[in-house]
Amino acid sequence: MSTDAIVILKDDHQQIRKLFREFRGAGEKATATATATKGKLATHIIEELNVHTYLENEVMYPEVRRLIPELEGDVLESYEEHHVADVLSMELYAMKPDAERFDAKMSVLIENVTHHMDEEEQQWFPKVRKGLGRSQLQEMGARMVELRKTAPRSPAQPSALKKVVDAVIA
Ligand SMILES: [Fe+2]
Ligand SMILES: [Fe+2]
Repeated sequence: MSTDAIVILKDDHQQIRKLFREFRGAGEKATATATATKGKLATHIIEELNVHTYLENEVMYPEVRRLIPELEGDVLESYEEHHVADVLSMELYAMKPDAERFDAKMSVLIENVTHHMDEEEQQWFPKVRKGLGRSQLQEMGARMVELRKTAPRSPAQPSALKKVVDAVIA
């Protein structure tokens, strides 16, 4: 298994995209079964996003900022895009899937995150790969593999909450 940091993050993106497709495929109809399926998928999506964000925030973004200073603006924009997703995720996590605003909020989350992942894959990762050596990416990936084991999955966990609070008051 590769421990290249970019390969790991791209694999996460694929898994997240798959869940987004499943959510969209779960249907517009407000049947009890569709609603229950969407509720379960939303929880799964939010947990995957939470772990992925944690790995990027703890390893990828600070390391890139330190090692490739000219990408600082991109990193700061990423923090803000993740912050929007964090806020939506926290609201959705506390919401019942039959709530009036649930589907609309999920749509906005999916649109925002899809845009962010496309931007990372098409523009940002290539710049990072160019700026960092293979061994640096392997070393970062190995740290991510370790961190994933203890990463917060629920937005209600203290380390996840702290991140949102920090972004607001920093
Ligand atoms: Fe990201
Ligand atoms: Fe990402």
